This record gives sequence, C-alpha cells and structure tokens, in this order.
Amino acid sequence: MEQNITDQELQKKAETLLKKMTLDQKIGQMTQTERMSITPAEVKEFHIGSVLSGGGSCPGENRPKDWVDMNDAYWAASMEADENHLAIPLIYGVDAIHGHNNVIGATIFPHNIGLGAANDPELLERIAKVTAREILATGVEWTFAPTLAVARNNQWGRTYESYSEDPEIVQSYAGRFVKGLQGDMGVDSVVGCVKHWVGDGGTTYGIDQGDTRGNDEELSRIHIAPYYPALAEGVLTVMASFNSWNGDKCHGHRYLLTDVLKNELEFEGFIISDWDGIDYLSESYYEAVGWSTNAGIDMFMVSDKWREFIAHLKSHVQNGTVPIERIDDAVRRILYVKLKYGLFEKPRPADRYWSNHDSFGSKEHREVARESVRKSLVLLKNENDILPLKKNARILVAGKNADDCGHQCGGFTVAWQGVSDSKTIGREFIESGVSFDYGSANAAVQKGTIEGGTSIWEGIKAVAPNAVLNLDGSVADSDEHDVGIVVVGETPYAEGLGDIRAGDNTIVEMGSMIKGLMKVLAPYGHSLILNELHPEDLRAIKNITDKGIPVVVVLVSGRTLIIEKELEASSAFVAAWLPGSEGQGVSDVLFGDSDFQGKLSFTWQKKVGENFLRGDEHYEPLFPYGYGLSYNKQV
Ligand code: BGC
Repeated sequence: MEQNITDQELQKKAETLLKKMTLDQKIGQMTQTERMSITPAEVKEFHIGSVLSGGGSCPGENRPKDWVDMNDAYWAASMEADENHLAIPLIYGVDAIHGHNNVIGATIFPHNIGLGAANDPELLERIAKVTAREILATGVEWTFAPTLAVARNNQWGRTYESYSEDPEIVQSYAGRFVKGLQGDMGVDSVVGCVKHWVGDGGTTYGIDQGDTRGNDEELSRIHIAPYYPALAEGVLTVMASFNSWNGDKCHGHRYLLTDVLKNELEFEGFIISDWDGIDYLSESYYEAVGWSTNAGIDMFMVSDKWREFIAHLKSHVQNGTVPIERIDDAVRRILYVKLKYGLFEKPRPADRYWSNHDSFGSKEHREVARESVRKSLVLLKNENDILPLKKNARILVAGKNADDCGHQCGGFTVAWQGVSDSKTIGREFIESGVSFDYGSANAAVQKGTIEGGTSIWEGIKAVAPNAVLNLDGSVADSDEHDVGIVVVGETPYAEGLGDIRAGDNTIVEMGSMIKGLMKVLAPYGHSLILNELHPEDLRAIKNITDKGIPVVVVLVSGRTLIIEKELEASSAFVAAWLPGSEGQGVSDVLFGDSDFQGKLSFTWQKKVGENFLRGDEHYEPLFPYGYGLSYNKQV
C-alpha cells in the first residue's frame, strides 16, 4: 500500500486518473479475459484491466518461473504508455482456493470442508499467508478466494469448497482468511475475492448454479452473514454468483449487487462477474452486457469473446442504455483497488521480492498443511480402541485412495477437475494391462502430477515399517496381517460435474431458471450412497474383514456420504475430507502422535433423501453437527 495515504487521497488519485481516460480505456479496465485468448500486445491495444487463469490453465511447464514470465509480459504491456494508452498495471487472477493449486509443486491444503472441521480461525490466517506467498512466488497478485458458501445440501458438487453448512464457522474464518491474504497490503500481500455473492450454497436440491429460494431474513442470516467480517477486514473484491435468488439471476440482480452490497454494506472495492456468468441472463449477449453492468458488475470475466463484450458495452454507452456514470463508478472502483493494493508502485513481476522465491512448496509451508490435515480429521467410530495403531503392527493398507495424491487433493488441483496421480495403480494395474475399477463415478479424471506431496500410504509407510500396500485387499491373510487400513471414497470433481442428481437432467434447467441456456452437465452420480458410487470400496474392505482382520476405514471425500455398509464393516472410521498434498498428517493421528481434534461442521445424514441441518427442530442424523471422537476424551 502507498504508505501513510488515506483512502480519501486514494479516491482522489483514482478520480484524477479517471478524468484522463477515454471510453475505450475505461471499458478495457472493466474487462478480464483468460490467458489463452489474449496476447500482451492485445492487452495494451485494448487497455485490458485483468487477465486470469481458469481452472488448470497454466503457462509453459507450469513452474513458478513460467508464471512469473507470463505475467511479467502482460504487466509490461499494460505499463507501456503512449498517446493511445495510459500506464495502468494489469492485475492477474487465479483460483488459489486450497493453496496455489494450479501450479505444479505447490503446497496443497485441505479443501474448505476439512478446514471447517478443524474449527481454528488462527490456523486459517496462517494458511492464507502461506497461500499468498506461493501466489506471489509466481508473480500473480489476486486470488478468487475465500469461498464463503454455506452449503446446505451435500448433493452440490461444490460442497467441499464450503467450510460448513452453518454460517458460524464460515463467519469466524472469513475475516481471518482475508487478513492472511491481504494483510497490510505490503510486499507479501495478495488481493482477496470473497465469492460467490450470494446464496451459492443454498440452491434447491444442491444443483450447481441453481436457484436459492427463501425470504430476505434467511438470505441475510445464512448466506450474507459470512460476508460481514470479510468486508470489515477490507476485502477488495467480490465475485457474483451463478445462482439465482428466488428465480432472479445474481449476475443481473441490481438489488443484491448495488443496493445491498455496495450501498447498505458500503463495499468500496469492485464486483467481478463469474466465468461468462452474464451469458445466462439473456439469449441476447448485447442485452446481457447492459443488464449486468447496470445491475452493478464492475469487472467482467469473459472467457474468450472479449472483443464482442467491449463492442457491446461501448454501444450501450453510446446508445444511452448504460449511463457513463455507471462506467465511471466501475472504473473508479477498479482503480481504487489497484491503488489500495499498491500495484502502481510495484516493480514488474520479474523484479518483485517474492517472485520465484524458494519458499514455494517448501517444508515450512508443507508443515502448515500437515498441521491442517491433523486438525481436520474427524473420528466417527473407534471400536475397542483399535486406534491409535501400533507403529510396529503388521498393517495391510488398501483402497483406491490409499496411494493417490491426486485423489486426496480433489478438484481444483493442477487441472480444473483434479487429477489421478497413483504410482501404485500405474505399477500394479496399468502396466499389467488391467485397468483399475473406480466404480461408475467420474471415470474421466485425467492423469496428472502432484509434486512434492506425500500420499496417505507414503505417510503410513514412513512410520510403520511393517505396513504393506495392496489396493484391493485381496492378499489379506490373518497370519500375516494384524489390521487393515482401507482408504476409500470419491475421485476428483469440480463444480456441476460433482453434483449428485437423483432425477433426470431437466431438473437442472428448471432449478436454474435460465431459459435453457445452461449446458446440461453429467453429474457425479445419482445418489449419495458410497456403495452405489464406489462399490469397489466395500469390496476392498470385505476382502480383509472376511479373513477376520479388523479394518480402519479412512474416507477421502468432498462431502458426507451415506456410509451404512462401510461403517458397519469397519472397526474404526475416519473422515479425512480432501486432505491435500500432505498425507503424513493422516498417519500423525492414526498412530497417536497427535489426537483427533476435528468436529463435524456438516451434519452426517443416515439415509438418502434426508437433509438434516444444524438447528433443525426435528434432527435425527447419523452423526450430528459438532460430532467427533478423540483418544483423550478431555481434548
Ligand atoms: C467458478 C469460480 C472461479 C472461476 C474462475 C468459475 O467456473 O465458478 O469459482 O473463480 O470459474 O476460474
């Protein structure tokens, strides 16, 4: 931040700059596009305000240096002043939502659902700080995080991006996370973005981008509440949500964007639209552009048709359908954010202190992630105190998620939909020509590399020398194995592709109220029953228990699932959520070096079709909100 400068002075500076800008320059500032669809020369020619990387979109070999070089070129182009172009630094945005997850070798933290179980706001601030440093190591300035969704139905494919089904923990995290990212706007800060405004977690049936229904009191108490501490902490940007509120799309919702967020809540930063999020307002793109601008969107995330967007917005101003005052308000806000963050004073990305810094993916950073894993695990069952396990026990480790760093990281890791990264499956199955059966769900996850992490198996092996790995558990033998650990659960997914949809696909359109404009996506599955999504898991468990060997089940998943059969077959059951790159955090707790501390921040449902939530009058779940066992009951 510019030292000792008041907000008023910053606003004045923004005003002075605004006065020098042409309409083309203003509209350019309001435009953000994807790196694949724009060159540095075009950034200058069209005065583009921001470029982003969509999920999994990465330059070169996807190393920090590739990122620094890329943003350096965009930034330099934006700063080349001449008679047609003013030097206004470009801001580069990414989805660093559980660490700087697009980049190879980054420290990957548990997804938010696990952090919710940790219920530790201080930890959240440290996670945000580490994430900010890793973002800065790649020369980037802005992350679309934290997600403040309060997910009310586990069928939603983005449930794991939510800290809790209840606003309490989300609220206690929001300000701390923003503080960790933005800090004092000094050299180790990045710009934060709370999302998705608003009601993203409340859609009917948990349909991604669907319709959230209710009254204003509910909207405020459940979905707006987490935004207060983030705004109080000075979060600089807010992303509009794909969902509708009582049938009206948030991207065109003047009341929610302007009257509530900007006027009532006095938000001074800028609102960015979600990925092509305005497209669903109308079949006419021209109309959608005018509608969303007038509703209050300030910067537009346009994946590739940015030329069209710019032309339409310009016509609207010329035709008088978007007042110039609205354009000025948007640009003033964008300039204010850039000034507040001190972007004008920063050297080019290649010359910044943290760029290419060797703390990226360092042991110190990974320690914070490992601590987060330890704190996020929830113990649901521990018959006869089978846990903690003895380090010298003869353990058979099984389950498709036992040795797969990609699966334990989940979606939004290296690729948008996440990756499979199993060395074991490579060795035992692929090379022998036998393909591993992942069950019916999401068979399409691509191969990828999570570098620098430890799988859950590797974490176990590091402390238990007599542990052996056999993914389907078929070698189980009671003379050779004292106990089994079976790591089961979901394979990676992101957004709507992670939805569980019971009915046919038409429900998507009805729920979304988008006049048939939304692409119908294939869901992850049709029910939340683990044994229907992934029957191979129970098979692996049974292969071991059938031999009279007790089994500890570790569930890797982005949400609570119906686990009746697996729970019954197990002696102990641990919910590990999507723990990220540091699998050793799991073994730290399984072997008793740390105790379990995690408590459910989501209600665990007993049966399909039930959706009990904390605070319900009639509340009969399998495990209630706040449930979690520990070794030392005093903890
Ligand atoms: C998601 C956002 C994300 C954006 C940019 C969208 O599909 O809804 O959460 O920030 O893509 O990658």
